[in-house]
Amino acid sequence: MTEPNTILVETHGRVGLVRLNRPEAMNAINSQLIEELMSALEAFDSNSAIGAMVVTGNEKAFAAGADIKEMVDASAADMHARDHIAPFDRILKIRKPVIAAVSGWCLGGGSELALSCDMLIASETAKFGQPEINLGVIPGAGGTQRLTRAVGKTLAMEMVLNNRTLNAQEAVQFGIANHVVPAERYLEEALALAAELAARAPLALQAAKQMVNHAFESSLTDGLAEERRTFYDLFDTRDQKEGMRAFAEKRKAEWKGE
Ligand code: CAA
Repeated sequence: MTEPNTILVETHGRVGLVRLNRPEAMNAINSQLIEELMSALEAFDSNSAIGAMVVTGNEKAFAAGADIKEMVDASAADMHARDHIAPFDRILKIRKPVIAAVSGWCLGGGSELALSCDMLIASETAKFGQPEINLGVIPGAGGTQRLTRAVGKTLAMEMVLNNRTLNAQEAVQFGIANHVVPAERYLEEALALAAELAARAPLALQAAKQMVNHAFESSLTDGLAEERRTFYDLFDTRDQKEGMRAFAEKRKAEWKGE
């Protein structure tokens, strides 16, 4: 396998960290970067030594969108044939929690990538937006759909139709970000949150993530039935026995992921 050259991959204990690394292009997401990012996340997902992941950029930019220069001359037929947004969907299959650590510009496909993560820690410098309208197009990786579910119709309309940007405080206020932290601590805080998650019962953690995501895909009746089934299924895991016995015995549970 060739080494990735648009991302940097690190491990911090049980946390896998991927840094988007095209600083010369504000981390614009080209085909190579999205491929390398998704492959890195998938490798962490199948590595039992990793319990959670963080995706970040650099201080100036999480990512300023899809790479405009890569698609400027494409026709509609080219775009359909290349379908270069399809790899964005691979993040939806990741079973372990993924946290976006966002500083600076988080625009277009960058914002759509961040919104596909499970939680988001924002530096006080973070700026979110969907500027595709300025390019004569619309968002293509969830900006009209996932963003609308997160912030509601009227704000999504303003962002997508009129390039309204959100600062970090607004991102928390409108449900995009979990926390805003000082610029120098955003990555540290995201890694700390990921480490907390990575120390939890792995099968329950994955089931919990799957069920919260299911809430966006199903009717309430179907979602509640699926949740109950999943809750009962977890009683066949060793971790359920360990967790409940540890509670009764007033000791800390030791999770096995079984
Ligand atoms: N694609 C390609 N290159 C980009 C880029 C992008 N999305 N964003 C920035 N860059 C490049 C710039 O062209 C520039 O390269 P050169 O030095 O070779 O000229 C370099 O990154 C630095 O950028 P700027 O000089 O523009 O930096 P700035 O500080 O003045 O502005 C910015 C920063 C506001 C983020 C500005 O770069 C910008 O507006 N970028 C484009 C944002 C955008 O329109 N994103 C949507 C893309 S389309 C999309 O994402 C579709 C989708 O839904 C999947």
